[in-house]
Amino acid sequence: MKKITFDCSILENVRLATGVFKTTLDASAVCKTAKPGQFIHIKTGGEKFQLLRRPISIADVSGDRLSIIYRVVGDGTRWLSERGEGELIDVMGPLGNGFELNAKKPLLVGGGIGIAPLLYLARAFGDSSSDVLLATRSEEETTYWLEMFSSFCSNVHIATNDGSLGTRGNALDILPNIAGSCDAIYSCGPAPMLRAVSDFALKANIPCQLSLESHMACGLGVCLSCSCASSDGKRKKICVDGPVFKAGEIEL
Ligand code: FES
Repeated sequence: MKKITFDCSILENVRLATGVFKTTLDASAVCKTAKPGQFIHIKTGGEKFQLLRRPISIADVSGDRLSIIYRVVGDGTRWLSERGEGELIDVMGPLGNGFELNAKKPLLVGGGIGIAPLLYLARAFGDSSSDVLLATRSEEETTYWLEMFSSFCSNVHIATNDGSLGTRGNALDILPNIAGSCDAIYSCGPAPMLRAVSDFALKANIPCQLSLESHMACGLGVCLSCSCASSDGKRKKICVDGPVFKAGEIEL
């Protein structure tokens, strides 16, 4: 059976903003086959305090280095954010299906911490081919994304809820104005944003792929903890049928 669980050493753990961290791992075995949109399932808690694994999307891959960007939302992510350089963590992956990179003029729409997997996706599409729309609550939540995307994307659009940077509002306040030239939309973020992006794409007849977040136990299609309803009336498992789905494929 193919090995999918690895001990990966932490190369760097950086605080990007309040409660948001970037952890970079030495993960050569995972990096070899990782695709944008896939995720890793991390055992948090160390030896003393074993908890369930946490699914976190792959934010970037460079050689043997794999980065994740996440918000601290509980004990597991707090534990992860406190790990130091050289510590080993137990990583399962890469898991899930990933995005299909079949667009010539993609538009990437990310909301909040859901922006993370779009970084690796934008890099995979290559310089200047992607338009990127970043939707966040404030400038503080945008600055680090902007620095990362601006280093290799020339068209970055910004919406902040409080208007402290870019357009005041949400992703849908910008999307209709910039979607005309794209041939596909790729999106990841909170559920209300994904619903709105999906509705817009279906009405505008633009192919659209959405990456979903979910609580997961096994990550391997066994426990059903991540199942969701699909439009054909069957259940889909986000961990193995997704996390990337086509707009209209599942009920959001
Ligand atoms: Fe167990 Fe998806 S997490 S089936």
